[in-house]
Amino acid sequence: MTNDLSHIHRFAPGNRREAAPLLLLHGTGGDENDLLPLGEAIAPGGALLSVRGKVLEHGMPRFFRRLAEGVFDEDDVIRRANDLADFVTEARQRYDLAEPIALGYSNGANIAAAMLLLRPEALAGAVLLRAMVPLREAPKADLFGRPVLIVSGQSDPIIPPSNSAALALMLTKAGAAVEHRTLPVGHQLSQADLTVAKTWLANVEAGAVALT
Ligand code: MLT
Repeated sequence: MTNDLSHIHRFAPGNRREAAPLLLLHGTGGDENDLLPLGEAIAPGGALLSVRGKVLEHGMPRFFRRLAEGVFDEDDVIRRANDLADFVTEARQRYDLAEPIALGYSNGANIAAAMLLLRPEALAGAVLLRAMVPLREAPKADLFGRPVLIVSGQSDPIIPPSNSAALALMLTKAGAAVEHRTLPVGHQLSQADLTVAKTWLANVEAGAVALT
Protein backbone atom coordinates (compact mmCIF):
# COMPACT_ATOMS: atom_id res chain seq x y z
CA MET A 1 0.00 0.00 0.00
CA THR A 2 1.27 3.50 -0.85
CA ASN A 3 -0.25 6.69 0.52
CA ASP A 4 2.12 9.44 -0.56
CA LEU A 5 -0.06 10.51 -3.52
CA SER A 6 -3.61 11.84 -3.13
CA HIS A 7 -5.20 8.34 -3.00
CA ILE A 8 -4.10 5.19 -1.19
CA HIS A 9 -3.09 2.75 -3.91
CA ARG A 10 -0.92 -0.15 -4.96
CA PHE A 11 1.19 -0.16 -8.08
CA ALA A 12 2.56 -3.26 -9.80
CA PRO A 13 4.87 -2.31 -12.68
CA GLY A 14 4.49 -5.54 -14.67
CA ASN A 15 6.98 -6.54 -17.32
CA ARG A 16 5.17 -5.64 -20.53
CA ARG A 17 5.72 -1.94 -21.19
CA GLU A 18 3.79 -2.07 -24.48
CA ALA A 19 0.54 -3.06 -22.69
CA ALA A 20 -1.80 -0.25 -21.60
CA PRO A 21 -1.74 -0.02 -17.78
CA LEU A 22 -4.95 -0.91 -15.97
CA LEU A 23 -6.51 1.42 -13.39
CA LEU A 24 -8.29 -0.93 -10.96
CA LEU A 25 -11.35 0.40 -9.13
CA HIS A 26 -13.00 -1.80 -6.53
CA GLY A 27 -16.66 -2.19 -5.53
CA THR A 28 -18.29 -0.96 -2.30
CA GLY A 29 -16.48 -2.35 0.74
CA GLY A 30 -13.40 -3.32 -1.23
CA ASP A 31 -9.94 -1.83 -1.32
CA GLU A 32 -6.82 -1.53 -3.46
CA ASN A 33 -6.00 -5.23 -3.03
CA ASP A 34 -9.28 -6.63 -4.38
CA LEU A 35 -8.91 -6.42 -8.13
CA LEU A 36 -5.17 -7.12 -8.44
CA PRO A 37 -5.70 -10.86 -9.16
CA LEU A 38 -8.38 -10.03 -11.75
CA GLY A 39 -6.12 -7.42 -13.35
CA GLU A 40 -3.23 -9.90 -13.54
CA ALA A 41 -5.50 -12.50 -15.13
CA ILE A 42 -6.97 -10.07 -17.68
CA ALA A 43 -3.72 -8.31 -18.60
CA PRO A 44 -0.83 -10.67 -17.83
CA GLY A 45 2.41 -8.73 -17.38
CA GLY A 46 0.73 -5.32 -17.71
CA ALA A 47 1.21 -2.51 -15.18
CA LEU A 48 -1.56 -2.30 -12.57
CA LEU A 49 -2.51 0.80 -10.60
CA SER A 50 -5.10 -0.10 -7.98
CA VAL A 51 -6.79 2.64 -5.96
CA ARG A 52 -8.83 2.80 -2.75
CA GLY A 53 -11.99 4.91 -2.77
CA LYS A 54 -11.94 7.82 -0.30
CA VAL A 55 -15.55 7.77 0.84
CA LEU A 56 -16.56 5.59 3.79
CA GLU A 57 -20.11 4.24 4.04
CA HIS A 58 -20.45 2.55 7.44
CA GLY A 59 -16.72 1.85 7.27
CA MET A 60 -16.86 0.52 3.69
CA PRO A 61 -14.66 2.30 1.14
CA ARG A 62 -16.41 3.67 -1.96
CA PHE A 63 -15.54 6.15 -4.69
CA PHE A 64 -18.47 8.54 -4.11
CA ARG A 65 -21.40 9.07 -1.76
CA ARG A 66 -24.83 7.63 -2.46
CA LEU A 67 -28.21 8.50 -0.99
CA ALA A 68 -29.51 4.92 -1.35
CA GLU A 69 -28.57 1.88 -3.39
CA GLY A 70 -28.41 3.07 -6.98
CA VAL A 71 -29.28 6.69 -6.02
CA PHE A 72 -26.16 8.83 -6.21
CA ASP A 73 -25.11 12.15 -4.70
CA GLU A 74 -24.25 13.60 -8.10
CA ASP A 75 -22.33 16.61 -6.76
CA ASP A 76 -20.09 14.15 -4.97
CA VAL A 77 -19.80 11.96 -8.09
CA ILE A 78 -18.53 15.00 -10.02
CA ARG A 79 -16.09 16.07 -7.31
CA ARG A 80 -14.68 12.58 -6.74
CA ALA A 81 -14.39 11.74 -10.45
CA ASN A 82 -12.34 14.91 -10.93
CA ASP A 83 -10.16 14.09 -7.89
CA LEU A 84 -9.55 10.60 -9.21
CA ALA A 85 -8.65 11.93 -12.67
CA ASP A 86 -6.14 14.27 -10.96
CA PHE A 87 -4.72 11.28 -9.09
CA VAL A 88 -4.28 9.45 -12.41
CA THR A 89 -2.23 12.40 -13.69
CA GLU A 90 -0.07 12.35 -10.52
CA ALA A 91 0.42 8.58 -10.69
CA ARG A 92 1.28 8.66 -14.39
CA GLN A 93 4.06 11.10 -13.65
CA ARG A 94 5.27 9.20 -10.59
CA TYR A 95 5.34 5.81 -12.31
CA ASP A 96 6.01 6.96 -15.88
CA LEU A 97 2.80 5.44 -17.20
CA ALA A 98 0.79 5.71 -20.40
CA GLU A 99 -2.91 6.63 -20.20
CA PRO A 100 -4.57 3.74 -18.34
CA ILE A 101 -7.61 1.67 -19.21
CA ALA A 102 -9.96 1.60 -16.20
CA LEU A 103 -11.17 -1.78 -14.96
CA GLY A 104 -13.94 -1.09 -12.48
CA TYR A 105 -16.46 -3.25 -10.67
CA SER A 106 -19.82 -1.94 -9.43
CA ASN A 107 -19.11 1.33 -7.57
CA GLY A 108 -15.65 1.34 -9.20
CA ALA A 109 -17.24 0.91 -12.63
CA ASN A 110 -19.60 3.78 -11.88
CA ILE A 111 -16.80 6.20 -11.00
CA ALA A 112 -14.93 5.05 -14.12
CA ALA A 113 -18.02 5.85 -16.22
CA ALA A 114 -18.21 9.28 -14.56
CA MET A 115 -14.51 9.90 -15.31
CA LEU A 116 -15.05 8.97 -18.95
CA LEU A 117 -17.84 11.55 -19.20
CA LEU A 118 -16.20 14.30 -17.14
CA ARG A 119 -12.48 13.84 -17.82
CA PRO A 120 -12.18 11.78 -21.00
CA GLU A 121 -8.49 12.63 -21.34
CA ALA A 122 -7.70 10.70 -18.15
CA LEU A 123 -8.48 7.27 -19.57
CA ALA A 124 -7.55 5.36 -22.73
CA GLY A 125 -10.70 3.27 -22.36
CA ALA A 126 -12.60 1.26 -19.77
CA VAL A 127 -13.93 -2.13 -18.76
CA LEU A 128 -17.09 -1.48 -16.75
CA LEU A 129 -18.29 -4.54 -14.83
CA ARG A 130 -21.88 -4.09 -13.49
CA ALA A 131 -21.97 -0.35 -14.19
CA MET A 132 -24.88 2.10 -13.95
CA VAL A 133 -25.55 5.58 -15.33
CA PRO A 134 -23.49 7.75 -12.93
CA LEU A 135 -25.04 11.13 -13.81
CA ARG A 136 -28.61 11.64 -15.01
CA GLU A 137 -27.60 14.46 -17.37
CA ALA A 138 -24.67 13.47 -19.57
CA PRO A 139 -21.99 16.18 -19.55
CA LYS A 140 -20.75 17.25 -23.00
CA ALA A 141 -17.85 14.87 -23.55
CA ASP A 142 -15.93 13.79 -26.61
CA LEU A 143 -14.66 10.28 -26.13
CA PHE A 144 -12.96 10.20 -29.55
CA GLY A 145 -13.59 6.50 -30.23
CA ARG A 146 -12.21 5.35 -26.89
CA PRO A 147 -12.93 1.64 -26.43
CA VAL A 148 -15.38 0.76 -23.65
CA LEU A 149 -16.61 -2.68 -22.62
CA ILE A 150 -19.71 -2.86 -20.41
CA VAL A 151 -20.47 -6.26 -18.90
CA SER A 152 -23.88 -6.53 -17.25
CA GLY A 153 -25.62 -9.34 -15.33
CA GLN A 154 -28.97 -10.49 -16.73
CA SER A 155 -30.37 -11.07 -13.23
CA ASP A 156 -28.54 -8.25 -11.46
CA PRO A 157 -30.87 -7.16 -8.61
CA ILE A 158 -29.20 -3.72 -8.39
CA ILE A 159 -28.99 -2.68 -12.05
CA PRO A 160 -32.05 -2.94 -14.30
CA PRO A 161 -31.23 -3.76 -17.96
CA SER A 162 -32.69 -0.39 -18.99
CA ASN A 163 -30.07 1.38 -16.85
CA SER A 164 -27.03 -0.39 -18.32
CA ALA A 165 -28.52 0.08 -21.81
CA ALA A 166 -28.88 3.81 -21.07
CA LEU A 167 -25.22 3.96 -20.00
CA ALA A 168 -24.13 2.22 -23.20
CA LEU A 169 -26.16 4.75 -25.23
CA MET A 170 -24.80 7.72 -23.26
CA LEU A 171 -21.19 6.65 -23.87
CA THR A 172 -21.86 5.81 -27.53
CA LYS A 173 -23.43 9.25 -28.07
CA ALA A 174 -20.30 10.79 -26.52
CA GLY A 175 -18.22 9.06 -29.18
CA ALA A 176 -16.93 5.93 -27.39
CA ALA A 177 -16.61 2.59 -29.22
CA VAL A 178 -18.89 0.66 -26.86
CA GLU A 179 -19.34 -3.10 -26.67
CA HIS A 180 -22.12 -4.09 -24.27
CA ARG A 181 -22.33 -7.73 -23.18
CA THR A 182 -24.94 -9.24 -20.86
CA LEU A 183 -24.06 -12.45 -19.04
CA PRO A 184 -26.51 -14.93 -17.42
CA VAL A 185 -25.37 -13.91 -13.91
CA GLY A 186 -26.26 -11.46 -11.12
CA HIS A 187 -24.24 -8.59 -9.60
CA GLN A 188 -21.31 -10.77 -8.53
CA LEU A 189 -18.40 -11.27 -10.87
CA SER A 190 -18.05 -14.61 -12.65
CA GLN A 191 -15.41 -16.50 -14.61
CA ALA A 192 -17.24 -15.37 -17.76
CA ASP A 193 -16.49 -11.71 -16.89
CA LEU A 194 -12.80 -12.53 -16.85
CA THR A 195 -12.96 -14.35 -20.19
CA VAL A 196 -14.96 -11.59 -21.91
CA ALA A 197 -12.74 -8.82 -20.54
CA LYS A 198 -9.51 -10.65 -21.41
CA THR A 199 -10.63 -11.26 -25.00
CA TRP A 200 -11.81 -7.66 -25.40
CA LEU A 201 -8.53 -6.27 -24.05
CA ALA A 202 -6.47 -8.53 -26.33
CA ASN A 203 -8.50 -7.20 -29.29
CA VAL A 204 -7.93 -3.62 -28.15
CA GLU A 205 -4.18 -4.26 -27.90
CA ALA A 206 -4.19 -5.91 -31.31
CA GLY A 207 -5.80 -2.78 -32.72
CA ALA A 208 -9.15 -4.43 -33.54
CA VAL A 209 -10.86 -1.82 -31.32
CA ALA A 210 -9.75 1.81 -31.41
CA LEU A 211 -7.30 2.90 -28.72
CA THR A 212 -6.69 6.63 -28.90
C1 MLT B 1 -23.06 2.33 -6.43
O1 MLT B 1 -23.33 2.83 -5.37
O2 MLT B 1 -22.11 2.69 -7.14
C2 MLT B 1 -23.95 1.23 -6.86
O3 MLT B 1 -25.09 1.19 -6.09
C3 MLT B 1 -23.23 -0.06 -6.81
C4 MLT B 1 -22.82 -0.38 -5.42
O4 MLT B 1 -23.58 -0.96 -4.68
O5 MLT B 1 -21.70 -0.06 -5.04
